[in-house]
Amino acid sequence: MRALHLISAALVSLTACADHDADVDRVGPGPVPDAGQSCNVDPDPKAQLPCDIAQILETRCQRCHQSPPKNGAPFPLLTYMDLFGDYGGPIYQAAYKAVKVDFMPYCAEGSSCAGTVPDGPVQPLSAEQKATLLAYLKCPQPAYDQACP
Ligand code: HEC
Repeated sequence: MRALHLISAALVSLTACADHDADVDRVGPGPVPDAGQSCNVDPDPKAQLPCDIAQILETRCQRCHQSPPKNGAPFPLLTYMDLFGDYGGPIYQAAYKAVKVDFMPYCAEGSSCAGTVPDGPVQPLSAEQKATLLAYLKCPQPAYDQACP
């Protein structure tokens, strides 16, 4: 009986592991599947993030993707240049995938780890914010000389 308990405990942790790996496979580095070959953007230290994108990153991502990063986030997401950091490919491609599958914002309400982040619940993206961010991250165009509201 005791052995049986041990075996089922081992099975449970194996399943948990497999789930976690599947999560990592879903995201991870590499090109955005539906972005095609047409995306030609280059890092430019003089470029800004468009105002609407800057606002979404500020309210939904920068709580963790700060400089230095907080809550275990791997890199900052503060500037246009940050989108071109290397994360096994440019960060904007990893971000597209992570947002698309709702892996980010991390541990937001509705996800399996909701409520585990210090300093209160993480707000998910609204459907509109998610669509705006995905459309942008597919091939992030630089902005210049904006006056954001
Ligand atoms: C509550 C903190 C938190 C918030 C908010 C957050 N992140 Fe993250 N982010 C993390 C952590 C922690 C990781 C590392 C997760 C892991 O590897 O298991 C991560 C990883 C990532 C990755 C790498 C994913 C991969 O493929 O491994 C990207 C890209 C990313 N975040 C983008 C974003 C974007 C875009 C937003 C806002 C829409 C956001 N994050 C909001 C904490 C956060």
